[in-house]
Amino acid sequence: MKWNAELYDQKHAFVYQYGESVLELLGVQPGERILDLGCGTGYLTQQIADLGADVAGIDYSPEMIQKAKQSHPEVSFSVADASRFSFTEPFDAVFSNAALHWVKNHDAMIKCVYHSLKPGGRFVAEMGGKGNVQQLIAATKQVLLKHGYSKQAETEIWRFPSLGEYTSELESHGFRVTFAVHFDRPTALQDGEQSVTKWIAMFGEQYFEGVPSDTKQQMLKEITEILRPLYYKKGIWYSDYKRLRFIAVKQ
Ligand code: BEZ
Repeated sequence: MKWNAELYDQKHAFVYQYGESVLELLGVQPGERILDLGCGTGYLTQQIADLGADVAGIDYSPEMIQKAKQSHPEVSFSVADASRFSFTEPFDAVFSNAALHWVKNHDAMIKCVYHSLKPGGRFVAEMGGKGNVQQLIAATKQVLLKHGYSKQAETEIWRFPSLGEYTSELESHGFRVTFAVHFDRPTALQDGEQSVTKWIAMFGEQYFEGVPSDTKQQMLKEITEILRPLYYKKGIWYSDYKRLRFIAVKQ
């Protein structure tokens, strides 16, 4: 998937603004060596650097890394796959905000994180949890099926695990989970009547592979109408985000 890093920064600032409270959970100490996994355009990576850490940011998207390097030239960024990375110097902590649900191979990713940490090092992350954007996904699949796009309706873009499932996976890789929470966080979208369309354009393009543009526009209107009674409240569109947060310590 090709990311639009400019649009991400302009319109989806909420992603990293909410991430600031995940940073509090990370509790950066000056001088710590920290990896920001799935760093996007580097906003939170810069904040970690500003707290006095020696930080590196990695992301799968070359577009995001290019923007991160431009915006934060003094921070170290590189393109890397979350399931295949390695560093020579170990980290005190690996941090990740709103990125892990994109990872395809969690087993390999958790192994990489584990090997990249010092003993006692922490993995602190927030990702979409079970039920995240489930109303949006259901509405999209309903409309794809109605228009005869059954193959696209089977697309699974993200993984949103339950707390039990994910903490067990972390434990099976040798982590001790010292904190975990799964909570609802309805998230205000920023494009008025275009909110659902713009969110899908940013994050959910894969559902519409092979769909002609005019049909897609019609389908996006239909998805918006299905979601109106669920997402539109007092003049604002909210998406049904559910977050999974955890701290896992390398034993
Ligand atoms: C999320 O942060 O929950 C999310 C972002 C983009 C796509 C799917 C989920």
